[in-house]
Amino acid sequence: MLYLQIPLLAVLLAGGDNEDAFQEPISLQGNYISYLYNHSWAQSWGSVWLDEMQIQSWESNSGSITFLRPWAKSNFNNKEMTIVEKLAHLGHIELLHTLRNYASEWKLGYPFEIQITGGCELHPGGHMVSFSQLAYEGSELLSFQNSSWVPSPEGGTRAQQIGTVLNQRNVSNKLTLEMISNACPRFLLGLLDAGKADLQRQVKPEAWLSTRPNPGPDHQLLVCHVSGFYPKPISVMWMRGEQAQQSSQQSDILPNADGTWYLRIFLDVEATETSGLSCRVTHSSLEGQDIILYLDRPNSKGLIILAVMLPLLLLLTGLAFWLKKHWTHCVPPPTLLPLERFQQPRDSKPT
Ligand SMILES: *[C@@H]1O[C@H](CO)[C@@H](O)[C@H](O)[C@H]1NC(C)=O
Repeated sequence: MLYLQIPLLAVLLAGGDNEDAFQEPISLQGNYISYLYNHSWAQSWGSVWLDEMQIQSWESNSGSITFLRPWAKSNFNNKEMTIVEKLAHLGHIELLHTLRNYASEWKLGYPFEIQITGGCELHPGGHMVSFSQLAYEGSELLSFQNSSWVPSPEGGTRAQQIGTVLNQRNVSNKLTLEMISNACPRFLLGLLDAGKADLQRQVKPEAWLSTRPNPGPDHQLLVCHVSGFYPKPISVMWMRGEQAQQSSQQSDILPNADGTWYLRIFLDVEATETSGLSCRVTHSSLEGQDIILYLDRPNSKGLIILAVMLPLLLLLTGLAFWLKKHWTHCVPPPTLLPLERFQQPRDSKPT
């Protein structure tokens, strides 16, 4: 059924008005971390990510899934979601049990951390790839291939030992395969549909500039801040005229709390070399109207003040003319005293 759905989806997406929404692969990934303090005490957390957006969280104490987006249940009904929740809980209990039993044989020294990740990735042509890995203290030990765990070369004997034990559990492996290669793609396709309005939204960035001495007064660090945009792909460059400044340095693109993104672009320049510099922001939400901020031109605040001041000035000039015209009609103009009266003749002495 799945193989029929994917090309169908590809056709639907290609025919839609948002053709560039899926030019990159999209992944659905579940992450699980278990931290074992000692033989009897462990804490575990889980999260589900659609690309870089977290949509679900799970915590071992409650054993229940929290949905972080209104569409995070995809097209699964409550019964199906309950099954997923139960499987997650059982898998977690069984894993802890196994780890505790084999901790000394596998030389897992308390405290230690086990991470498991698994999911599926949809490629632009409709091709789907499933994956799962298990890591100990941050380094990969095993990866799931076809229908069994394969030790990673760098995992050594420990990886082989764990692989052997895990592969004896036929039911668990079948379930893992079912989850990543069947349930996951179905869930992912459902998410793309249920969350369409959210995932395909376009949010315009705001941009502003700041400068600071770097590190002494003869160098300046120019910072172009760009925040609040969605989706993530963006191009921001420091320019001199039409010339992109290759020495620009980009920060990581960081998430804002509302799911939009934030980044900074730095340029280190000599303090005397700042003229003609601008920051150019190109983003899909701007529809070709790039944001360009100039370092040394009147900023928009100055323009606003000018825009308010100009009519005011005109009004005042008009008023002055009106007053002058009407005043001369009603009141005799003040008599002007001859200038000579105020001037001391240069060489004459006061009398
Ligand atoms: C296990 O670790 C927890 C948390 O550090 C601690 O409270 C507990 O006493 C420990 N238990 C044993 C048996 O060492």
